[in-house]
Amino acid sequence: MQPPISLEQIDRLVEAVRARTDHRPRVALILGSGLNALAESVRDADVIPFGELPGWPVTTVEGHVGRLVLGDLEGQAVLVMQGRVHYYEGYSMAQVTLPVRVMTRLGVEILIVTNAAGAINPDFEPGDIMLITDHLNLVGMTGLNPLRGPNLDEFGPRFPDMSQAYDRALADLARRVAAEEGVPLREGVYVCLSGPSFETPADLRFLRTAGADAVGMSTVPEVIVARHGGMRVLGLSGISNKANLDGSTVTTHEEVLAAGKVIVPKMEKIIRGVLRLL
Ligand code: HPA
Repeated sequence: MQPPISLEQIDRLVEAVRARTDHRPRVALILGSGLNALAESVRDADVIPFGELPGWPVTTVEGHVGRLVLGDLEGQAVLVMQGRVHYYEGYSMAQVTLPVRVMTRLGVEILIVTNAAGAINPDFEPGDIMLITDHLNLVGMTGLNPLRGPNLDEFGPRFPDMSQAYDRALADLARRVAAEEGVPLREGVYVCLSGPSFETPADLRFLRTAGADAVGMSTVPEVIVARHGGMRVLGLSGISNKANLDGSTVTTHEEVLAAGKVIVPKMEKIIRGVLRLL
């Protein structure tokens, strides 16, 4: 087992962030593959590349910029993570979720988490936005839960509840904004796999049977750690490709990044609208 992350390590990063900005964010946003552009509208921005924060896990994936942007968006003090790290990059689950621990200690109360995901639900199309109503923690069920190891009592209990991982009031706000802005909003269950290989058709038929609507390689560990620390979570998936249930098409990372261009304007409308209503 890789060494667990201590409160001291987390708080060193909290101090390092505070030393670089006067913003005190209440809302944090994690931007997934191809969704970086959302950070460009942050006003009065302080930008911190991940590499300048000692111990912060650094992104190795194309399409993930790898920096923190702190500032004002729609009247809210926000911290935007442009890019994230994934388990498949070789990081431990504790490292993958370290940024969420730091956010919690910075005083962030609400996490808006986004990702690019493959559609398993046959009604979904590339370019759609899916409100995450629940998740399947397949990776966690097999032992890779980010809370494995000594419990950090300062954040939450040993056995945190996950009956409402995705906040119902925030989901209602997202539905309301989507309706007002004319953005069609899908809803469903997100399943997290470790990746980096995409799924076989048999994998996908299994996941569909298990109740998943969209599949990706992130988000679930971050949400578990956010909930452990008492944050409220809104999750949005940008559907980048149709998962290949019958083996007739090929999924590529380029396709995932290209779909981001269609997804970003819609995602931005929803996120801006929700921030205005908070
Ligand atoms: N599978 C897994 N992860 C993904 C996909 C996919 O089809 N698309 C974007 N992330």
